[in-house]
Amino acid sequence: MIVAFVSKKGGVGKTTSAVNVAAVLARLGHRTLLVDLDSQASASLSLGVARADLAPSAYDLLFAKRPAAEIVRRTAIPNLDLVTASVDLVAADLDLAPLRDRELVLGRQLAPLRAAYEWILLDCPPALSVVPLSALAAADGCVVPVVPQPLAWEGVDLLLAAVSRLRERFGTGPRLLGLLLTMADSRTRLARETTRLLRERFGDRLFTAAVPVCTRLAEAPAWGRPLVEAEPESRAALAYAAAARELIDRSASGETGPASKIGVLGTDPARHG
Ligand SMILES: Nc1ncnc2c1ncn2[C@@H]1O[C@H](COP(=O)(O)OP(=O)(O)OP(=O)(O)O)[C@@H](O)[C@H]1O
Ligand SMILES: [Mg+2]
Repeated sequence: MIVAFVSKKGGVGKTTSAVNVAAVLARLGHRTLLVDLDSQASASLSLGVARADLAPSAYDLLFAKRPAAEIVRRTAIPNLDLVTASVDLVAADLDLAPLRDRELVLGRQLAPLRAAYEWILLDCPPALSVVPLSALAAADGCVVPVVPQPLAWEGVDLLLAAVSRLRERFGTGPRLLGLLLTMADSRTRLARETTRLLRERFGDRLFTAAVPVCTRLAEAPAWGRPLVEAEPESRAALAYAAAARELIDRSASGETGPASKIGVLGTDPARHG
């Protein structure tokens, strides 16, 4: 199953969530591949890859510059493999632009890798440009991290509209596996109130698990080890463990429920393996 961690908004916890959820899935024994699609390479660095060692990267995968076997690397976590990002990705949108059906290129390149993994998680850059749209087109499902702040859902609506357009154009698009609350600070009234509004608006489309604000989570990228590995008993790590288990359940159930009301697209069982 290919899952894109995506949002038009920056700094909402896409990378932190993709990295920690990937590590939990791998520890649960699921063969997992994390593909870093953001030229900032935060996911790659968070998993301990040195900045000088980022190539070959997702750019080489996209444009078939090298065989996938030379691009995919092992990580220190058993069952977790990684395709790094590199600065080349800055050019990917432009390089893809002239191609017909450019949004489908990533899916084609990932197709041969599907058989080797139960999960392929895509960490997207904060935009709805060609690369993240390609990630959505390639994905069976998407997870949208949301920080409980006013207007949090504006980005969500834009994202759902983009998914609808993809489906119209290519007949393919991910189902929304859920909105994941991150940096949820239950001590502030604003966060509690926004969380209540989000739950009212999106119902069970919101993950039950919510990731609290946690400074250790912000520090973890510098350790080159996800928090779920370094401090698995911390509150934020436990929240990511719960989110990963929920992701497994949500992806297994074909239920679309109230999703249609907010323009979320249904499951296409043929694409789930
Ligand atoms: N629960 C949390 N508590 C505190 N800090 C967090 C939490 N989650 C993420 N952070 C920190 O917030 C910043 C943004 O998180 P992250 O990089 O995961 O977001 P992103 O959506 O991937 O950002 P971008 O859009 O730039 O790719 C990072 O410095 C990260 O370490
Ligand atoms: Mg990121």
